[in-house]
Formats: sequence, C-alpha cells, structure tokens
Amino acid sequence: MRPAPRGLVLSLSISPADASIKRSFTIRPMPELDLPQRQATDTLMLTGFWYRALPADRVHRNQLHKATLLEIPLVIGRDRVGQPFAMRDACPHRGMPLNCGRFDGENLECGYHGWQFDVHNGQCQVVPSLTADQKMKVERIYAGSYPCEEQDNFIWVYIPDPGPSGAGFGPPTEAPDPAPQIEKFSERYKVAYLQAEMPVSIDHGIIGLMDPAHGPFVHQAWWWRTRHSIHEKQKHFEPIPNGFRMSAHTPSSNSAPYKLLRLYAKADSITTTIDFVLPNIRTETIRAGKYWFSSLTTVTPIARTRCRIDVVAAWNIFRWVPFVPEMLKFVFAKFVEQDRRTMELQAEGLQHNPHLMLIDDADRPAKWYFQLKAAHLEAKRTGADMKHPMSGPVTLKWRS
Ligand code: FES
Ligand SMILES: [Fe+2]
Repeated sequence: MRPAPRGLVLSLSISPADASIKRSFTIRPMPELDLPQRQATDTLMLTGFWYRALPADRVHRNQLHKATLLEIPLVIGRDRVGQPFAMRDACPHRGMPLNCGRFDGENLECGYHGWQFDVHNGQCQVVPSLTADQKMKVERIYAGSYPCEEQDNFIWVYIPDPGPSGAGFGPPTEAPDPAPQIEKFSERYKVAYLQAEMPVSIDHGIIGLMDPAHGPFVHQAWWWRTRHSIHEKQKHFEPIPNGFRMSAHTPSSNSAPYKLLRLYAKADSITTTIDFVLPNIRTETIRAGKYWFSSLTTVTPIARTRCRIDVVAAWNIFRWVPFVPEMLKFVFAKFVEQDRRTMELQAEGLQHNPHLMLIDDADRPAKWYFQLKAAHLEAKRTGADMKHPMSGPVTLKWRS
C-alpha cells in the first residue's frame, strides 16, 4: 500500500459503474519552486481509445494468446482466414479464462461447461446443458468482445468506456475511428518494431518518453553523443487536436547519424516533426528530399504500475544499403533498453512515494500531458468540447 499522499487529493472517476478506473490525482503545494502547483503523476488509464495489444507476427491462426490492457485480461487470436479478434479472457458463465478453451477457427468453447462464443462479436452460440424444452435465449448472452484491427505489424484493440453496455454485457461497442497508422510517404518501405516492458505507471512511461533533458545522461554512446555535447536548445511547439507538436525543425547537428543522412540524401534540408496525442502516441517524421523515416511509438498501460513501450518504425532511407535495418534496430534497441533500465531503477525510488517535480521548461511537455488528460476527462464528464491547455504556439528552451 502506498501511503496517502499529502496535499489536495482529488478523486477522478470516469464512470461510477467502474470502480477499477477510479484513481486519485494529487496536487501538492511546491514552495521551493516558482510554480503555482506541483502535480504528482496519477495512474488513471484512459478508455475510449485504441491500444496496441500484441505484435502481429506472434499471433497465429487458430491459436489463443493472453494479453492485458488497462488491467483487462484479454484472449487474442486469429480466425480461420487470419482475421484477428479480442475477447475478455473470462467466460460470462463463471469466469473461466477462455484462453484455456477450445477454438475451432470460428467459435471459442469454454473449457468448464462448453458454452461456445463467436469470437468476433462474443455472442453465445451453444449452451450444451440445455434440454430441448428449456427455452433460454442463448443469443442474448455475450462474452466481452472488443474491436480489433491489425495495423503496421501490431494487433490493436479498442477499449471502450466502461458502462452498462460496455464489453461483457451486450453486443460489442463499435470503435469511432480506425486504429492509428504510421504515416508513409512512398509505396516501398521497410518496417520493424521493438518493445520493452517497464514497471512504472503509464504516466511515468509517457513523460519519460517526451522528456528532453535525460538524453545526455541516459542515452550516451560514442556514435551518438556524449554528456559533454550538452548545449542550449530552443524548440517551437504548437497545439494540435488532443495533443501538441514540436514544429518541423532541423535535427540536432551534434549527432553522427544525422550528418550521415545529410550526406546520403544529398538533401539541403532535413526536417523532423514530433507529435504527441492522447492517450499515448508519439509520432516522429524525418524527411530529407525523397527519403523519409517515420515512427509511431506508444506507451500502453498494462496495469497501474506496469506499462509497455512499442516502437514501430517505417522508412525508405538506406533501403538498398545492406545491414541498415539491422543497424537501425540496434540503435533503437539500445535507446529503448537505456530507457527501460532507467525506469526500472526509477520504480525502486517511486515505491516510497517521494515528492516529485515538473520544472520549466524541460518538463513543460509533461505538464501539457497532464493538462490534456485532465481536459479530456473534463470534456467527457460535461459533454462539452475539450479545452486545449495551450492557447497557441510556444517556444521552450532547455539544455540537452
Ligand atoms: S464457466 Fe464457461 S461455460 Fe461455465
Ligand atoms: Fe529516452
């Protein structure tokens, strides 16, 4: 049990119907800094969004896999024609995990009493114990089923808002939009993914991902940069729907890969644009003439103190040069592992519920993240349009 936080504690709840979503949000006074308030991270996980569940190449036809998203146990698989599906991994009869059942490529049969469910909508097809004169309406029973899509090497699952018509009680909720996609700028390209699990909340995962100040200390490598290359930077940000953008800029000249890219692409200008949008998506696009590199990184809440980072990248840069995919994967794997290791250590410190700070300007993106999250929840509560925390473009300065 974490000790009760000091200061003002606001309890936020998306819906009283789902107590598991109720978390506390702490605002504490911060006398030592010239800021009106200090926000500790909360662990609230946002529903009503698509989340990455599993890499697509791990999910095979007629096989069942377990996954957890937002503390919801899921069983994921592919039907006979390879179409993916996601169901709540608990039988609506008496809670038996459905992943232990039998799957014929169409219906999933619970291992306890043999009820069968259509994997795409969760509807019950058969209750074997019923006699001919027992007229129970089997088709009215549903196992929880979730919208599921395959996109850029991942199986995505839409987690609807909880409620009486939410998953597990009736026909599945439709997702309002398709799952997010990586932006691609040519027909031919390569794709690769990486993932790492971290023992911290979604919030620490996300603010760690957008944090500009840890680079010189966490991501040192002779071929990238050393801590001595730290220098003052100035970046422009602008509001975008549900998030913010680091406006197109020329990437930092102190890194070797960018110097190499400039030579290879023979492009005068290389631009990078980085977006963050709720609930957990960071996209980065690098363009150099006809060459491009795009990545879509997500931090997925698995449980209150566990998240997973999935980086998927697509590119046409160096497509013909041998070993480039391997090299890129190596570079990314190294960065992700450095972040994972850092957060593993951070989790040790967080166990004791320390006071935390967000400082200007380096932590301003983290502040925007918390404000966006609060504004999103407020808009949901009131039904009004979301009030964006940024009123216009902002320039931030830091050393990194
Ligand atoms: S628990 Fe699944 S059929 Fe009874
Ligand atoms: Fe990092």
